[in-house]
Amino acid sequence: MRFIVCENYDEMSARAADILASQLILKPDSILGLATGTTPIGTYDKLVEMNKAGKIDFSAVKTFNLDEYYPIKADNDQSYRYFMNKYLFDRVNIDKANTHVPNGEAADPDVEGKAYDKMLAEAGGVDVQILGIGRNGHIAFNEPDSYLIAGTHKTALTEDTIEANSRLFNDISEVPHYALTMGMASIMSAKMIVLLANGKGKHDAIAKLLDEKITPDCPASFLKLHPNVVIICDKEAYEG
Ligand code: PGA
Repeated sequence: MRFIVCENYDEMSARAADILASQLILKPDSILGLATGTTPIGTYDKLVEMNKAGKIDFSAVKTFNLDEYYPIKADNDQSYRYFMNKYLFDRVNIDKANTHVPNGEAADPDVEGKAYDKMLAEAGGVDVQILGIGRNGHIAFNEPDSYLIAGTHKTALTEDTIEANSRLFNDISEVPHYALTMGMASIMSAKMIVLLANGKGKHDAIAKLLDEKITPDCPASFLKLHPNVVIICDKEAYEG
């Protein structure tokens, strides 16, 4: 696990975008694992700039997102499909048919989870996975628990996550209580993982990546078992 500690959010976003850009230059038909949340927005902005400047090309890229609220309609402006279209897919030359987000309208979440993992495996697996981290140490919506789940599945959001995400809704009562999320095995099967974190609120979670313990109380701690993880964070997240 390597750490790149940046001065601020802008530098963190630039470093992450540079890594993704190198990946696309080396392998134009890369499979990218993408994340929502406020953390990766700056990275997506920089990728859009590079795409507009002709430095990177998304025409052969496939993407798989980590998670989606459940149930939710794709055109709901709180859905992660809506977020991805707004911040990235509508702004670059990607074929939308090559972009995948778990289906928040699926009738049966178990069937959807299995189908999503199958589609990802058949595509060849994720080359580079972008991850955020919850202040409680969650990755995607794999929340702290006494055990973790391997594949894509439906999960209940913790009170802490509902509270953290409520800043993006008119009222906390509007925050969905469930989500579809890639599981730990789906995430850990990526060839490379780039985890982003900024701000003091993420310090406790980042501190748990710096110690030796691996525990389902902090799902992100399992990343210590992965051979190719880069944590890009700002000073506030690193130092507290
Ligand atoms: P954030 O969310 O980027 O909005 O902080 C990260 C996460 O909860 O994984």
